[in-house]
Amino acid sequence: IKKVTTHQLQEMKNRGEKIAMLTAYDYSMARILDAAQIDVLLVGDSASNVMAGNETTLPITLDQMIYHATSVVKAVNRAFVVVDIPFGSYQGNSSEALRSAIRIMKESGAHAVKVEGGREIRESVARILTAGVPVMGHLGLTPQSIYKFGTYTVRAKEEEEAEKLIEDARLLEECGCFSIVLEKIPSELARRVAQEVKIPIIGIGAGPDVDGQVLVMQDMLGITKEFKPRFLRRYVDLDTIISGAVTEYIHDVKSGGFPSEDESY
Ligand code: KIV
Ligand code: NA
Repeated sequence: IKKVTTHQLQEMKNRGEKIAMLTAYDYSMARILDAAQIDVLLVGDSASNVMAGNETTLPITLDQMIYHATSVVKAVNRAFVVVDIPFGSYQGNSSEALRSAIRIMKESGAHAVKVEGGREIRESVARILTAGVPVMGHLGLTPQSIYKFGTYTVRAKEEEEAEKLIEDARLLEECGCFSIVLEKIPSELARRVAQEVKIPIIGIGAGPDVDGQVLVMQDMLGITKEFKPRFLRRYVDLDTIISGAVTEYIHDVKSGGFPSEDESY
């Protein structure tokens, strides 16, 4: 199996082949996604929401991210594995940023890290890159700054914020980031960014004119039923499927229908 690399992701953009990315947080699911030929797996700090049940991504720790990343890396044969550096482990202190990135790479065996923000974190990005760790940027709606924004609504609808976003994308490219995620911004702005920077732009709620797409695995599988943003496409209703299976199991246990003789020793 040929493993996906940053070089290959760049070539995919160059030849117009879209990049497919999903989140993963555990071994069993990562194995399925990797075998299905997903290009990039993101061990997102959305694990804070979907795995740990927190309201935001802020509480998840570096140790917890490394735990999730280690499980995902063990499952992967082909996909490129990117890990979010969690809130509080890279902002405002480039030495700590480097230390966090190195811990993730060393302890989990992942292939790259992702950080949120532009000019505010440029020193941290540059410092991580000095260690040869590939960095993915993340602009637009950046959930680690949710208390600054106040809401999860679409970003950069106004000209000023849009211009700042384009400058930040250029800055991250100049710094040496291998790719950037754009979250929840107008399609037209995302199209402009994907055109103006050479590195692959991966969108989530950023329209079709970017170099790839990412979704949270639980969302696209229909496990997170209450979460219904416009950008989300549900490919299966796993909530209903799982709850049906569990209901049947409970019935079989209570009626004595499980286990059968064949299922017993
Ligand atoms: O943590 C996450 O799942 C993410 C994606 C939504 C890009 O950062
Ligand atoms: Na994230």
